[in-house]
Amino acid sequence: MKLLSLTVLLALLPMGSALADAVDAAKSPQGYGSKAYVWNRMNPEQIDVLRKSGDAARGREAFRACSGCHKPDGFGLIDGTYPKLAGQHAAVIVKQVTDVRAGIRANPKMAPFASRHAVNTQEIADIAVFLAAQRTARENGKGPGERLSRGEELYKKGCTTCHGERGQGSEARIYPAVAAQHYGYLLRELEHIKGGTRGNAHPRMVRALRGYSAGDLAAVADYLSRMPGGEPTPVVQAGETVNDFPVVARLP
Ligand code: HEC
Ligand code: HEC
Repeated sequence: MKLLSLTVLLALLPMGSALADAVDAAKSPQGYGSKAYVWNRMNPEQIDVLRKSGDAARGREAFRACSGCHKPDGFGLIDGTYPKLAGQHAAVIVKQVTDVRAGIRANPKMAPFASRHAVNTQEIADIAVFLAAQRTARENGKGPGERLSRGEELYKKGCTTCHGERGQGSEARIYPAVAAQHYGYLLRELEHIKGGTRGNAHPRMVRALRGYSAGDLAAVADYLSRMPGGEPTPVVQAGETVNDFPVVARLP
C-alpha cells in the first residue's frame, strides 16, 4: 500500500499547489536512481491492465478524462507541454500511466486525472488500444533544424538498438516510439533522463546519454521530431476494435 500513498495524496491536492510543484521538481521515491528501482519490474496493476482486452471504441469515450490536456485526437500541444499520444504503442501507454499511479514516474499535473478515482484498469486498457490505433494529421512541433546531421549521427550510434532506425520503438519490448513527437517534449524528457530525474528510464539509455552536451540533446530531439510519424503498426487493424496485449505472452 505504500506505493499508492503518493498518488492518493496528489489526487487530493488542489492543482498547482506549492506541494505539487515541489513534488514536480523532486525525484520519484521509487523511481530511477533509488535503491528499489529495477527497469520495468511490471507492477501488479500494469500486469492487471495487460491481461485485459482493450476496446478502442470504449477507449475513445474514456479518453475524455485526458483530452483536456492531450486533446481529443491525442495530439497534445505543439510546444510539447503535453506529449503526443496518438500512435504510441499500447503497452507503452499502459506502462507510463501505471508507473505514474505507482509513484515511479512523477507527473503531478496529470496524476489527479489518471488516478484510480478517475479511471479504472479496464479504461486504461481501452484508452491504450484507442491511442495506439489513433492517427493525427496535425504537424508536430519541430526543432530549429540546425544540427540535424549531428542528431542523426548520435541517434544511430546510441539509440537505434531500442528505438529503431525509424524511431518506431517496440510494442513487444515496451520501448516508446519517438518519431514525430513534439520537439519541446523530447528535449525535456532527454534532459530529465540524462539528469536522472525521470522516474522511469532504462539504465542503458541513461548511460548512452552520458557524454551528450546540451547542444547534442537538442540535436537528437530535433532529428527525432523530423522523422516521419505513424510508423508503429496499429495493434488494432482496420475494422477491428478489440485487442489483447501482445506482451501478455511474456508475463509472469
Ligand atoms: C492536466 C493535464 C493532463 C491530463 C488531464 C492528462 N495528462 Fe497525460 N501527461 C500530462 C503531462 C504534462 C505529461 C508529460 C509529463 C512529463 O513531462 O514527464 C503527460 C504524459 C502522459 C503520458 C506519457 C507519454 C510518453 O510518451 O511517455 C501518457 C501515456 C499520458 N500522459 C496519458 C494520459 C492519460 C491516459 C490521461 C487520462 C486518463 C492523461 N494522460 C491525462 C498531462 C496530462
Ligand atoms: C536499452 C534501451 C534504450 C536505449 C539504448 C535508449 N532508450 Fe530511450 N527509452 C527507452 C525506454 C524503455 C523508454 C521509456 C522509459 C520507461 O518506460 O521506463 C525510453 C524513453 C525515451 C524517450 C522519452 C519518450 C517518451 O515518449 O516519453 C526519449 C526521447 C528517448 N528514450 C530517447 C532516446 C535516445 C535519444 C537514446 C540514445 C541516446 C535512447 N533513447 C536510448 C529505452 C531505450
